[in-house]
Amino acid sequence: MRVLTTISDCRAERAKHHQLAMVPTMGALHAGHAALIELAHQYATSVAVSIFVNPTQFGPREDFNRYPRPIDDDLELCRRGGVDFVFNPPVEEIYASAIPDVIVDLPSLSTLLEGKHRPGHFKGVCQIVAKLFNIIRPDFACFGQKDYQQLRIISAMVGALNWPIQIVPCPTLRDPDGLAISSRNRYLSPAERQRALSINKGLRLAEAQINAGINQTNRLTTTIQNLLLEQHLAIDYIASVDPITLKMVEVVTGPTLFAVAARVGTTRLIDNLLVKPPWDLVIPNAPRGVS
Ligand code: PAF
Repeated sequence: MRVLTTISDCRAERAKHHQLAMVPTMGALHAGHAALIELAHQYATSVAVSIFVNPTQFGPREDFNRYPRPIDDDLELCRRGGVDFVFNPPVEEIYASAIPDVIVDLPSLSTLLEGKHRPGHFKGVCQIVAKLFNIIRPDFACFGQKDYQQLRIISAMVGALNWPIQIVPCPTLRDPDGLAISSRNRYLSPAERQRALSINKGLRLAEAQINAGINQTNRLTTTIQNLLLEQHLAIDYIASVDPITLKMVEVVTGPTLFAVAARVGTTRLIDNLLVKPPWDLVIPNAPRGVS
């Protein structure tokens, strides 16, 4: 496995591969990233991973400096995952100071949900992903559904800019207790981790209520809210939105994304669940023979 730190070396390495699937990451790799790498192998004969903690997507009071950077463990996980090459540039290689900022933004999607609580976050994400796509020129790029809004924005960016890249979503990986796997989980104390389980429990309970016929989203989000408040989580948002437009949904009549962001102590966690109501599959008063 080759590890490249400059753009020119990365381009030279990329030229040696035909169909390429990439997994963009900020390192601190875990089982969720291993699943993305495995998925990438199903799409292309070569797989690349980028490891770059991107400063432009962190707010001034966020955890850029304390974000974990266990590069040796990360490279080992990539090696075990059969990755062909890793791009791991220093910040100066990506953001040379003489180059003016280029902003790629999709405001109709980037100012909602996470974007409201982390102003400028998705501008930073689009900036780095656009640069990585131009440097690595993947045919496929795999992203986790835990960061659903990121996945949606990147798919929309690729479509809007006509890049010949297929965005491949990967289902959220969970620990056996249901906690969505995230690099930030390592900040949680055992007691905080227990409290954090209320996020997934709340989402599952809302899903059970939908299956029992409740479709008003204010009732469903209140269910989630009560579980989080019982565990003293500080809620940033609990939202029910259309999975394509990310606009708020008041009544569940089709696929709906329930998205949560909350802080447990100083750790901010996000999770979501895409629900498809059972009655979506039923044709009411279907004529005989149609099901
Ligand atoms: O999801 C992440 O790890 C990052 O936001 C990404 C897509 C690698 C861009 O820095």
